[in-house]
Order: sequence, then structure tokens, then C-alpha cells
Amino acid sequence: MSDQTPARKKVTLHTLLNKKEKKEKAVFLTAYDFPTAFFADQAGIDMILVGDSGGMTKTGYKSTHPVTMEEMLHFTQGVINGAKHAFIIGDMPYGSYQPSDEIAVINAMRFIRLGCDAIKCEGGEEMAPRIKAMSDAGILVMSHLGLTPQSVAKFGGYRVQGTTDAALNYLLYHGEAIQKAGAFSTLVEAVPPEAGKALTDKLKILVYGIGAGPYVDGQLVISDDMLGTFAGCLDEKGTRKPRFVKRYAELGELMEQAFRDYAREVRDGTFPGPEHCYKMKDMPPPPCNTREGAP
Ligand code: KIV
Repeated sequence: MSDQTPARKKVTLHTLLNKKEKKEKAVFLTAYDFPTAFFADQAGIDMILVGDSGGMTKTGYKSTHPVTMEEMLHFTQGVINGAKHAFIIGDMPYGSYQPSDEIAVINAMRFIRLGCDAIKCEGGEEMAPRIKAMSDAGILVMSHLGLTPQSVAKFGGYRVQGTTDAALNYLLYHGEAIQKAGAFSTLVEAVPPEAGKALTDKLKILVYGIGAGPYVDGQLVISDDMLGTFAGCLDEKGTRKPRFVKRYAELGELMEQAFRDYAREVRDGTFPGPEHCYKMKDMPPPPCNTREGAP
């Protein structure tokens, strides 16, 4: 950081509201571990979602349903340790808020105790009582509308939502319900840009999108989607990615190549070389990079 660079401040709700006011887009990314959160924070990402998608991207589950609170808190601890400036949102996993208002508040508080700024839960009007209960307990709640992965069976798969007038009105209805219940924000997933815009124009709260076009208050992407490390979403050719994802790097390919290079060098004796070997204090080093030197 140069001497002229002003010290970066922690992103707060106030920062996000200011951005909306000034029509500046917020940059929102998922992270599930210390290094991703650290580099995202260094890169100036505004908001981090510790998504339950981590169950799929990091643990390799086929859906988000098996993800537990304990797994989420483990992901969250890494992110809290890595990101000192970004606004951090903990994602409530399946079963951690649906059963009752009390269970929702208790679990939401576990994220806040770790250091999250807010929590996210899926659902619209049907979740209004939960959103109200958590928000009455002083917790910032982000709702999640459109395609909500925890209810994927209801949609018959990961399908785009809000594509007809009726579906758009349904989305707006749920948006108004969660706003009234006290959500500070909503995230809308997999809808056409017209639906993202209608929701952003209609609601007073912050509206972020993932696959919801450019008119929302900020964009979310799943870090493993943009980095090419979401191994679970590859098809047989290793190429599949959702339509709304732009690849910014092919880290999966780089990792595989690095592992191949390492395997080859171990097998042919190139690694470890003399520069990777410790020296005895009073003896010359053994020729540890040659076959002759190997035990
Ligand atoms: O868990 C997650 O990353 C999410 C996104 C898919 C929006 O909820």
C-alpha cells in the first residue's frame, strides 16, 4: 500500500446503503476458507457470502441439503480470520431456520458471535415470521429469492425463475413481504435482467443478484465458478458452467498441472533438489537429487 492510499475501512451496512445511493455497484463473492477470504479482501471485494454452496464446492456434496451448522461455522471461522474489511454474511443451512423462530434466532446468533455482519436465509413470504424474529433480535437478515437451492425439488431442478408476468409478480409479492418483515436486503438468483430490475426498482432495501442481470445493486458470484475450481459441476468433458458465470481464471487446470509436475519430479528424482534439503552442520550434503543419493 502506498503512503497516499487511504487506509481501507471496514464495509458496514452504512457503506452499502451509501453505494446504492450513489448508484455504485457492490462486488459480492462467496468464500469458505481463510485463503480465499484473504485474497478477496486484499482485492477490495465489498461483501463475502459464506454460502452453503461450500458443501458442494468444498465438500463435494451433490446438493446443499447435507450441510450442517457445524460445517458452516467451520467455513465461517476461516473467512472471518481471512477478511478484515469485507461485509461478511453467514448462510443459514437447510434445517437451521425452517423449524421455528426460536431455532432460527439461536442459529443466526451463532454466526453473529463468530463475527458475521449479517445472515442469509432462503425464502419469501413463508419465511417472513423467521425474518422478523431474527431482525427483532437485532440481526441483519438478507433474504434469498428466485431460484433457492434448498428448495430445488420444488422447482424441478436448477431452473431460471421469474420469466413470465405472473412469475415476476409472484417475485415482487415475495420481495415486498420480506422487506416488510425487516430484511435489510435480498439476493435474487437466476432470473432475467427485467426481473432483477423490477425488484430493484420496487423495493427500498438492497437487492443483489446472482444470474439476475446488471440492474441490481451488486453482483454475487461463487468463487469456485469464476476460478474454475468447482469440480462437482464439471460434465464428462470437464467443461460445464452455469450460463451466468464468467470464468476469470482456470485455477483447476493450473492445480492439476502443478500436481502432475510434482508427481513426475518425485518419480524421476528431480524433486527434492539440493536447494530443498537441510544441511548437516559439519558434513557435506548428500547428493539428494540423484538416484545414487536416494536411500
Ligand atoms: O450458498 C450460496 O453460495 C448461495 C448462492 C448460490 C446464492 O446461496
